[in-house]
Amino acid sequence: MEKIYNDIEKILVSKEEIKKRVKELGEQITQDLEGEDVIVIGILKGCALFFSDLIREIDLKVDVDFMICSSYANDTKSSGNVKIIKDTNIDVKNKVVLIVEDIIDSGRTMYNLKEIFKVRKCKAFKVCTLLNKQERREADIEADYIGFEVPNEFVVGYGLDYAGKYRNLPEVGVLKPEIYS
Ligand code: IMP
Ligand code: MG
Repeated sequence: MEKIYNDIEKILVSKEEIKKRVKELGEQITQDLEGEDVIVIGILKGCALFFSDLIREIDLKVDVDFMICSSYANDTKSSGNVKIIKDTNIDVKNKVVLIVEDIIDSGRTMYNLKEIFKVRKCKAFKVCTLLNKQERREADIEADYIGFEVPNEFVVGYGLDYAGKYRNLPEVGVLKPEIYS
């Protein structure tokens, strides 16, 4: 097996920056959602690292669960089709749903999730994303909590993958172009 860092061109967000920002997000969420019945739902697999760090910074008695949505498979562009592979079975009616996502790109995944939870009559639908690629937005959706804005480049690390790899990179970085071209 080759080492991860051989494939990384540059680091966009360092471990220290992630740690500081995750703490800030947790504090903000704690402040905003105090008194509410909250279900934090992570979208696997990309959310895994962010989710586990974030929920430890939220000082509320939340429920947690995970969902799996179809992704880009081995491509770097969205197919536009969003499928639910694993759903939550928690009843969200009259509760606040806080979705935790690794990145919002076209916004299609999140737009679809919002529609799904609207039908299930949650009290509010909130989105916390580690990264936001505003330039690529196609669907009418904005996150309530954003860790970092990133440029229109394919990023990996801290949960984000390319073809299943690089999720365990502890920071967010950009791959060398020869890796995906
Ligand atoms: P959207 O539906 O286009 O917003 O896509 C969201 C999903 O695409 C994310 O949950 C990621 O899994 C994946 N994705 C989008 N951009 C990137 C990227 O730069 N690196 C890794 N995954 C990405
Ligand atoms: Mg994802």
